[in-house]
Amino acid sequence: MLCLGIETSCDETALALVRDGRCVESVLATQMDVHALFGGVVPELASREHYRFLGALYDELMRRSALSLDAVDVIAVTRGPGLLGALLVGAAFAKGLALAANKPLVAVNHLHAHLLAVGLEQPLHYPLLGLLVSGGHTHIYRIDAPDALRLLGRTLDDAAGEACDKFAKMLGLPYPGGVLLDRLAQRGTPDPHLFPRPYTHTETLDFSFSGLKTAALTYLRAHPGLMEEGKRVREAGTDAASPSLCDVCASYMLAVAETLSLKMERALNLPENRDVTSIAVAGGVAANTQVRAAMQRLADKTGKPLLLPSRFLCTDNAVMVAYTGALLAERGWGHGLPFSSVPRGQRLPDDLGALRAPMPKGDA
Ligand code: KG4
Ligand code: ZN
Repeated sequence: MLCLGIETSCDETALALVRDGRCVESVLATQMDVHALFGGVVPELASREHYRFLGALYDELMRRSALSLDAVDVIAVTRGPGLLGALLVGAAFAKGLALAANKPLVAVNHLHAHLLAVGLEQPLHYPLLGLLVSGGHTHIYRIDAPDALRLLGRTLDDAAGEACDKFAKMLGLPYPGGVLLDRLAQRGTPDPHLFPRPYTHTETLDFSFSGLKTAALTYLRAHPGLMEEGKRVREAGTDAASPSLCDVCASYMLAVAETLSLKMERALNLPENRDVTSIAVAGGVAANTQVRAAMQRLADKTGKPLLLPSRFLCTDNAVMVAYTGALLAERGWGHGLPFSSVPRGQRLPDDLGALRAPMPKGDA
């Protein structure tokens, strides 16, 4: 099955072709530079940029793959969650293609696509315990099948990526700070006692990073020199960072990474999850060096294999959308033209999948 995937939920415009679980070709245009001028993603600008790039990227994808829409069996598009205007650009484009070429259309839950993406690189054996850590989400899922994902825990306030980006901002580092924080942290030595592991005293699998942010802010106020240094790094690059700045970044990232792994361990220890065969970690923050290391330590401790996607598959891309769309289509799921996009903060129809009811194969 050849699936065309379209992703426009945030600030990456991406298209990809996936055939039988392997990427054939993918194209991506990032808007990071545009939004960096404003210190965060500006929704209206994101929609305009998607609209500006989508057609040209589609042509580029078809040219590079030497394929045409005729060869595509199913079209998959991100339904949500994301920025509504941005999602609508992708959905309208996908609906146009589906209508013009009379192709089945599958609307994909962006979060599920992140979690399943590792299946492009390694075989997935269910049930899995999945951790999605991105700029907008920190979710723990039990995954029994591509269309059976159950949310076990979520953040009550900031997502892990947001907690990284906000700490970077406090330091005066440029947006998006998570990657820079990672780079600086790799050169530092973490102090495991400097920052708390927030919201881990409760039995719940939910997260809350506000306590960590407050602790970090208090620490920085007591050490204003670090913020001055952050500004210097902004101007002169990461080489200008002192060992003490790198150490504090490493300590903060360790707190985030260990909080994530503590909750995952708790989820793995639940009696109903004893049958879980492996751990999958996905989303932008899964690219973080300390998060990857903490998850590897958890995997070693529990004897459950760790499925970590390559860094390209961690951040937003359309390969994961095409892959998930194909998995769903193979299982008989499909949408017609009437589906609506679902913005961030609004529940997807069943919160488990983008889809409420399966349709017969090929009937979109
Ligand atoms: O999944 P993603 O690309 O976009 C969505 O939010 O859907 O995740 C973006 C988030 C941002 O908060 C970014 O700072 C963070 O992932 N991020 C990282 C790293 N790479 C991306 N955070 C820490 N370390 C990284 N290496
Ligand atoms: Zn994402």
